[in-house]
Amino acid sequence: MAKPIRIAPSILAADFSRLAEEVQAIDEAGADYVHLDVMDGHFVPNISFGPSVIKSLRNCTDKVFDVHLMIAPVDPYLEAFADAGAQIITFHWEAGAHSHRTMQAIRALGCKVGMALNPATPAEVVAPLIEDLDLILVMTVNPGFGGQSYIVRMAEKIAKFRQMIDETGRDIDLEVDGGISFDTAGKAIEAGADVLVAGTATFRGGPAQYAANIARMRAGD
Ligand code: DX5
Ligand code: ZN
Repeated sequence: MAKPIRIAPSILAADFSRLAEEVQAIDEAGADYVHLDVMDGHFVPNISFGPSVIKSLRNCTDKVFDVHLMIAPVDPYLEAFADAGAQIITFHWEAGAHSHRTMQAIRALGCKVGMALNPATPAEVVAPLIEDLDLILVMTVNPGFGGQSYIVRMAEKIAKFRQMIDETGRDIDLEVDGGISFDTAGKAIEAGADVLVAGTATFRGGPAQYAANIARMRAGD
């Protein structure tokens, strides 16, 4: 069942000195999810923000908080992110040896369960767990930084997941993250993605441009 294309602006590209206004602006501009990139300087070579920042933004919008954890270990921090208002918690398959335990912990906290894969990780590793997932995130850059170039050859992995998800008949988001722009949004949609994370391309040009930026990516042109 085809779902509408949803846009998830990553606030990593927002003006951090005005985060509350930036979140309100993307809400009004038509964002579907608010994508929150958590980086620990260990799993990825960059540090961003943690649960207290997310909690402080929670009353700025009713949009879905889509929390992307680029941290290891994952499990000790899950409760803090659920308490901060995360509705989807996505962790990396590469972050630890016990993915299924992490998935159960996220579910027990009442959140939707997402799994992210680095570019080098094949889609097949998700097969044994797919029935218990609500979201699969295909990294189309190496995680850690905004503003990198889209890795075109990830199309094959996106298409593979499209097929795997459709075979389950379950309502699983297929999200792509990294280097999404007016040029690459259409490629990701064509391959089968239905949620596009976009940092740089959403926030380019300042608040007056956000609605047009989001609409253009959603249209895939
Ligand atoms: C990368 C993050 C992305 C990033 C996307 O590690 O997971 O969400 O912010 O940024 P752009 O859209 O600028 O590539
Ligand atoms: Zn992300």
